[in-house]
Amino acid sequence: MPEFFINGQKVAAEKGQTVMQAALAAGFYIPYFCWHPHLSVAGNCRVCVVEVEGEGGGSSWTDIACNMPVSEGMRVLTDSETVREQRRQILQFILLNHPVDCGICDKAGECMLQDHHYTYNGEPSISTVPKVRATKYHPLSERIVLDNERCIVCSRCVRFTREVSKSHGLAIQHRGDHSLVRAAEDGAFEADPYSDNVVDICPVGALLSRSFLHKARVWYLQATPSVCPGCARGCTVNLWHRKRDWQLNRLDPGQNTEIARVTPLANPAVNGPWICNKGRDLARIFERPRAGEPLLKSRPVTLLQATSAARGLIAESARPVALVSNWGSNEELAAFKRALGSRFTCFVKRDHLPAADEPVEDDLLIRADKNPNSATAHELFGEAPIAFPDRTDLVLVWGEGVDFASLPRGARVILLGSYLAPENGHADVFVPISIQTERAGHYTNFAGVASRFERCFAKQPGIADAEEFFGQLAVTAGAT
Ligand code: SF4
Ligand code: SF4
Ligand code: FES
Repeated sequence: MPEFFINGQKVAAEKGQTVMQAALAAGFYIPYFCWHPHLSVAGNCRVCVVEVEGEGGGSSWTDIACNMPVSEGMRVLTDSETVREQRRQILQFILLNHPVDCGICDKAGECMLQDHHYTYNGEPSISTVPKVRATKYHPLSERIVLDNERCIVCSRCVRFTREVSKSHGLAIQHRGDHSLVRAAEDGAFEADPYSDNVVDICPVGALLSRSFLHKARVWYLQATPSVCPGCARGCTVNLWHRKRDWQLNRLDPGQNTEIARVTPLANPAVNGPWICNKGRDLARIFERPRAGEPLLKSRPVTLLQATSAARGLIAESARPVALVSNWGSNEELAAFKRALGSRFTCFVKRDHLPAADEPVEDDLLIRADKNPNSATAHELFGEAPIAFPDRTDLVLVWGEGVDFASLPRGARVILLGSYLAPENGHADVFVPISIQTERAGHYTNFAGVASRFERCFAKQPGIADAEEFFGQLAVTAGAT
């Protein structure tokens, strides 16, 4: 464990750590662009420069902290006059051809170049020659566009496709101020299921997500911690939506309850700092047309009437079967078990199967089970495949993924669902229930790690909370 000094303070480093790693771990800040904790060292931006004091009064020297191993007794200065001056010059250089169009850039508000510029430079360009122009809107894929004028050629995006997603989908063409990030011609970047991570790790606003392009300034948004339900990995994510103070009243109030974007919520136990593109597209899952009204055989009723009808059907039934959702939270599944588990014969169903156009499984994150909580559902309700006992007279279907033609003939049906579907009108009782963004809870992933999701939006009147609803049905079931 080498010991060294940062700004005169003794610091113990791990064996093999660089000055950057040891400094950050000890709470000292060193700025960086090209360095990333989960990528190899490129050492090309030079903004992480630090001063190393010479031994025994010898002259000091500067070097980059991201590529300098800690050695015993070395003395490093992270914020000396020399360091600040070099960083100022480096920022003048990096900004030489930068367009400074922060006013229209999606990265504004979370841009490392803005932050470092105002910390270490803050001066207008001293260059007297015109800036080199480059492509402003280059489509790298269907999902991502590139503004080459904003690119500082840090190579983070290229290294990501080589070292993490391993698609080798990006590279840098040409040299010097003609350098351009470009996608490989074989379409590898287009097909990369992790491609959108490059938008997050680009330190400037060069890589832009088409789905978020010019949608919102980031300071209008808040991030709610959540869990991607797209597969059994259960990646932790941030769901970004409009802050209460910035709600739109007249212009487009629909935006107040929309997910503006999804980003990874770093979690070493589950997904590290990454998510796949399906996780970015959660709005496609959550923002499908919603079922808003309880129904009795397609006739709209109140929630109270639907609850009472469901209780009546359960009271009358001799052999009820429940098909339990593996999209239920740990709390909802436990509530079902408590309230109705002894009254129903229960089977766990798979709400979602892999879509035709999605990767089924890989060795990075993506799991073949496209549901978030099979682990808890099977733990509470067993692994048995669905097999309706003879003379089943009632089926409670919770969630999606059931073909009504497969249900026993003549059995009455209680359906709990969240989205518009033809089956809603075919059920004897249909109860609309809230979705993940309207409640809080936990999912347990395939490896047994439980992650919490928080509520983003209020549910509409007439929509039931499944956990409460099961408790109300328990009165009839006599299981409380
Ligand atoms: Fe770096 Fe962004 Fe340029 Fe890629 S596009 S090299 S991440 S600045
Ligand atoms: Fe969601 Fe699975 Fe992708 Fe993670 S790997 S973002 S849980 S679909
Ligand atoms: Fe060290 Fe870029 S962060 S050279």
